[in-house]
Amino acid sequence: HDLFGVLGRPAGHSLSPAMMQAAFDVLGLKAYYLALEADDLAEALAALDAVGFRGLSVTVPFKQEAMKLCVHVDAAAQRIGAVNTLRRTQGGWEGRNTDWLGAVRALERQLSLQGVTALVFGAGGAARGVVYGLTEAGAHVVITNRTEDRARELAAALPCSWVPMESFHRVKPQVVVQTTSAGMSGRPYAFRVPQNFFTPQMVVMDIVYSPLETPFLRQAKAAGARVVDGLEMLLYQGIEQFSWWLNRPAPEAAMRQALRRAAH
Ligand code: ATR
Repeated sequence: HDLFGVLGRPAGHSLSPAMMQAAFDVLGLKAYYLALEADDLAEALAALDAVGFRGLSVTVPFKQEAMKLCVHVDAAAQRIGAVNTLRRTQGGWEGRNTDWLGAVRALERQLSLQGVTALVFGAGGAARGVVYGLTEAGAHVVITNRTEDRARELAAALPCSWVPMESFHRVKPQVVVQTTSAGMSGRPYAFRVPQNFFTPQMVVMDIVYSPLETPFLRQAKAAGARVVDGLEMLLYQGIEQFSWWLNRPAPEAAMRQALRRAAH
């Protein structure tokens, strides 16, 4: 059997095992996908290499550190400053980032990103991947963040501009992405979205998927916007991982169904 897994701390709550195992099973592959909780990332990676794991998904808090432990990292991951996917090679672990591709593919099911204005809430690690993806896809990105210094830093590192939270409502975006950790059960937003901000012409995505319908998405939906929940980005980053590990197309429908079932 081939071994794959998600490495995090914690790892038990991850939805990746459900999604990936469903993909292996529907294709009849002899492969297992496990949730792996690590204390020391370097030790864990050495051990999993020795045991013969073929691929790993890397999650919080290891995405930055994993980059330093790879023998090769692709250009996107280097720009983003994080890897979320590892593949075993003769010489060690090779790293890649599929989060940005997941964001782009989830949004491009709704509209072409070429030339659109996109507003991104947040300036953390998740925002870096989303901003990189949006700019790669040809969007003009404006970010806004509670802590202005972090917005300024991100705008200096990646090609985007930033606005203070008091004035994001003056941006007239076609795409809005919420990348902050607010909106998770019981975590209030440090910003308020004015009643007339969302429009039916907008596509609005939230990367939070617990709950599936965040207050942010609920407000966007009530205003008639097209909404994309956090499971779609998770799905498409996983589809990219699958095809990189196994060199074949991923079974999208089975993966989506397994994810949605696991999230309930
Ligand atoms: P991640 O890697 O998941 O993005 P992070 O790097 O800690 O995590 O970033 C969290 C993001 O969520 C930041 O943009 C943070 O804003 P600050 O830079 O001001 O801390 C944002 N965030 C966290 N809680 C928030 C809240 N209640 N309202 C708005 N933004 C919040």
